[in-house]
Amino acid sequence: MKKREFLKTMTLAAGASALPLSIWSCASSAPRMIRTAHIGVGNMGMADLEAIASHPQVKVAALCDVDSQHLKAAHALFPDAQVFADYRTLLEQYGDQIDAVVVSTPDHTHAPASLLAMEYDKPVYCQKPLTHYVSESREMRKVANEKGLVTQMGIQVHSFYDYKLATLLIRKGIIGKVSQVVAWSNKNWGYDGPIPEGADAVPERLDWNLWLGTSSERPYKEGYYHPMNWRKLMDYGCATLGDMGVHIFDTPYNALDIDVPNTITTYCRESNGYGYPERNEVHYTFEGTAYTTPKFEWVWYDGVEGPVMSDELMLPNGDALPDQGALFIGEDGRRLLLPHFQQLPKFIVDGAYQEYVITDFDTEGVMGEPVRDYAAESPKHYHQFIDAVLGTAETSAPFDYSARLTETILLGVIAGRFPGKTLHYNKEASAFEEAEANQYLSGEYRSF
Ligand SMILES: NC(=O)c1ccc[n+]([C@@H]2O[C@H](COP(=O)([O-])OP(=O)(O)OC[C@H]3O[C@@H](n4cnc5c(N)ncnc54)[C@H](O)[C@@H]3O)[C@@H](O)[C@H]2O)c1
Repeated sequence: MKKREFLKTMTLAAGASALPLSIWSCASSAPRMIRTAHIGVGNMGMADLEAIASHPQVKVAALCDVDSQHLKAAHALFPDAQVFADYRTLLEQYGDQIDAVVVSTPDHTHAPASLLAMEYDKPVYCQKPLTHYVSESREMRKVANEKGLVTQMGIQVHSFYDYKLATLLIRKGIIGKVSQVVAWSNKNWGYDGPIPEGADAVPERLDWNLWLGTSSERPYKEGYYHPMNWRKLMDYGCATLGDMGVHIFDTPYNALDIDVPNTITTYCRESNGYGYPERNEVHYTFEGTAYTTPKFEWVWYDGVEGPVMSDELMLPNGDALPDQGALFIGEDGRRLLLPHFQQLPKFIVDGAYQEYVITDFDTEGVMGEPVRDYAAESPKHYHQFIDAVLGTAETSAPFDYSARLTETILLGVIAGRFPGKTLHYNKEASAFEEAEANQYLSGEYRSF
């Protein structure tokens, strides 16, 4: 089934409950409460739930999960919320009782659930990466813009002090024009093993059909999919690049104001169509911007062994590279290291760390004192979303931005299907010159 047909079927079924919400009509002086629905409430979904619920103007109205144990744990915290296993039922039956939706499911369900929520005119906070397919990112951006909905992608570090500071420093020219960014993660969300054979009994707590959702049918195997390990597999996740790259590449992408790339080359093992490679090196070239040299390159490394070392990556005093991070390299050799995460950016000149005074760059006084407290930093991104729904703020990672970031990331993941081959991307047409790669930009939706 095509995505459009899936949504049309669902919203026609919903009939009158697809009417726009009216959260603004409040006759009393009591603060307006935003009634939230949470799709996926285990692991990160629980963190999302708690962070959103910590906003004083949030009432958690609905909880949805395909794993009854996860649903039960969330329900114990918010006993007044309605519970659902199927997000379609939630939106169809309870859509008129909610004002905003949070999607914290595995990646393959981000777009189906978020697009449906947006069809019901709901503001959406969706976890990263925004989607599993490039076509879905484009659709999410289009629908959010057409409907003028408040949206936010779940890259909470976007709102952390150090990332905002790095963005400011780069934009204020601390290293001049940037010619290259090298970024890396030592995580391994790949799987080089064989495709598992046979099937295991589906645990009673799990609705496997709903978990698969729009993705292709597959026998259940314990430990391969739910929870978390779906990240390693092509049908559901987006590998380490899609997982950590979205966080780590966000600051370079934002600070340098870059668009989707022109070329992408990924070095990794041959694809087997099941698990993503465990080690990847991805090269992107982009059109230059006001903050970069005319030719600008980005290089990504993932895998437990860390990046391939080069002179550019050597740190002063023989310091080891952080396990994850990004290094901005200026055209004259000055560098800015942004470790991931919760460390101030480090300025490097002629092979030595150099002090910098934040206020010399922060001429408008927006940064304040450095914050080194995750518990204090983390809710900001979520509260910004709720404040935007209330009409008192704007989100900093709306789908208009985060869909392009996600598209860029996903193009590198697709290039891994063609190791060592440079793919040329036409951003207007959203198509590769190499026609064989175009099939991976989108996918069919299964009826479920
Ligand atoms: N922003 C961050 O720092 C961060 C950190 C971790 C994970 N994430 C993102 O959060 C998302 C979830 O990751 P995770 O590690 O929690 O995965 P997980 O597999 O551990 O948990 C996913 C949850 O969603 C539920 N679920 C699955 N399919 C569902 C469906 N169709 N409807 C309702 N619920 C469903 C699962 O039962 C589970 O409770 C991913 O997109 C991931 O990239 C973001």
